[in-house]
Amino acid sequence: MKIISIYGVARQSGKTTIAEEMALISRKKGYKTLLVDLDIHDGDVTKRLQLDPYPNISNWCEDIYRKSRKTSIINIEYDQANWQPFLQKHMSGLTVLATNTNPKLPYYGNIFYEIKIIYDSIRQSDFEVVIFDMGNDSSSFNYMILEESDYPVLVVDTFRYNVQALRNFLWDAQDVHFPVEKFKLLFNREPTAIEELPEKVGQDFKLPVIGVLPEINHRETMAPDEFNNKLSALLEAIMK
Ligand SMILES: Nc1ncnc2c1ncn2[C@@H]1O[C@H](COP(=O)(O)OP(=O)(O)OP(=O)(O)O)[C@@H](O)[C@H]1O
Ligand SMILES: [Mg+2]
Repeated sequence: MKIISIYGVARQSGKTTIAEEMALISRKKGYKTLLVDLDIHDGDVTKRLQLDPYPNISNWCEDIYRKSRKTSIINIEYDQANWQPFLQKHMSGLTVLATNTNPKLPYYGNIFYEIKIIYDSIRQSDFEVVIFDMGNDSSSFNYMILEESDYPVLVVDTFRYNVQALRNFLWDAQDVHFPVEKFKLLFNREPTAIEELPEKVGQDFKLPVIGVLPEINHRETMAPDEFNNKLSALLEAIMK
């Protein structure tokens, strides 16, 4: 199993586009794939994939919360069959843990433990590829997912030039002793002439640049374009 987490230091950097396309590509290649919408505050995977609102990740959190009234939360465990009811199937065959619908979610129960239980359950499952689409907050559960995943990706959107935001994010992460050397940088969109080159940014931060994705032009057909092809090659490299 490979767990890939897609994080970005700025909003709108292309995390969901990348997570979703990579999950669909993975499924198409024949891997048993799960896409998780972990953007608790503002996820849009359900909408984008035209799924049903329910079931979703908040139903699973609520189930854990209910169980934690009877058992100490640290003892709660799930077999794969027991969390199947929280999943949806997209028409492509991709399995999805859909977008949160509970506006109270981050503020009730014990969200860190709930997400940890969900993560541990997924880790023990028979999915071959799991992709986490994440929000932007530096919450403890986000750090936990980034630290535990096999392949934590930081999306850098040069289009909006957030290299300074990347620097600040890495400082903060280092400050809480996060193993920042685990991060891989994925540039979304080619830099313009006035922006720093991805290789230069990678050297400055001492982090590998795993790709530079092109601008998606108007998609008239479903045929794979350069954006898909680059993500496909990246997934191949990760699965090796
Ligand atoms: N390479 C690209 N070329 C053209 N448009 C793109 C590209 N990547 C992302 N976009 C567009 O940018 C917008 C933001 O993308 P997306 O929703 O994937 O970002 P996000 O990081 O998940 O945002 P949020 O922080 O709101 O979750 C969308 O309209 C998307 O279609
Ligand atoms: Mg998103």
